[in-house]
Amino acid sequence: MYTCTINKIELSFDDRGTGPVLLLVHGFPLDYTMWQVQIDALSARYRVIAPDLRGFGQSGVSHGVVTMKQLADDLAALLDYLSIREPIVLCGLSMGGYIALEFWHNFASRLRGLILCDTRAANDSPEAAANRSTLAQRVLSEGVHGIADTMIPKLFSQCTLQNNPSFIDATRQVIEHTKPHGIASAALGMAQRTDFTAELPRIECPTLVIVGQFDAISPASEMQQMAQAIPNAQFTIVNNAGHMTPLEQPDAVNAAIEEFLQRI
Ligand code: MLT
Repeated sequence: MYTCTINKIELSFDDRGTGPVLLLVHGFPLDYTMWQVQIDALSARYRVIAPDLRGFGQSGVSHGVVTMKQLADDLAALLDYLSIREPIVLCGLSMGGYIALEFWHNFASRLRGLILCDTRAANDSPEAAANRSTLAQRVLSEGVHGIADTMIPKLFSQCTLQNNPSFIDATRQVIEHTKPHGIASAALGMAQRTDFTAELPRIECPTLVIVGQFDAISPASEMQQMAQAIPNAQFTIVNNAGHMTPLEQPDAVNAAIEEFLQRI
């Protein structure tokens, strides 16, 4: 892992391989390790960069609200730090996808392609936003205990929950090591995020939309509509996966990403 200081925060990131840049952005409340199999496989042909976002993993933590715009600005600053000027492919899962859409909105010329994985274009309903606020308060007053138990059943398919205890344990470890302010700040930022639904027809770069068949957080039907609204998008459903598709079915996800990267 490498570290750099950008936008007044220390950011930790992996940077492996050479070739066209693929930037992988993790979901909430996780860290870059969710992409380990993608990093190992895809760095044979591509330069794969996978940061721990502000507030997560080994990176520094901000207090208050951390917006998706702030997190997108951090990605742009990381690319600047690495002197990467050529357009890149940005792949985000769930919260990483919210950040990817925000990055597109602000830095479209820096994108050669987008990969939107188990994510949504819509913003939170008032009820969902209120739940995030409750979560933030709870985490700050009681700590992160209990968050993993609440989240894990929503993140994985039944099949993974029953057959892959090592994935579940690893994810639990990551969540339980996340700092309360990291979780609270990003939860409050997600509650304020922009609704990009009406903007999707303006995305010009080639886009790959990937979703797990049993995703309970960003359902396949909603992601299919998202793909249909993006002019140059390809839609892929991955069987026997829930929300954590890259972790649950890495071979299928790697094949879809490789095929996309070779085509664009
Ligand atoms: C994620 O996986 O990043 C979260 O489920 C996103 C969310 O809570 O909306």
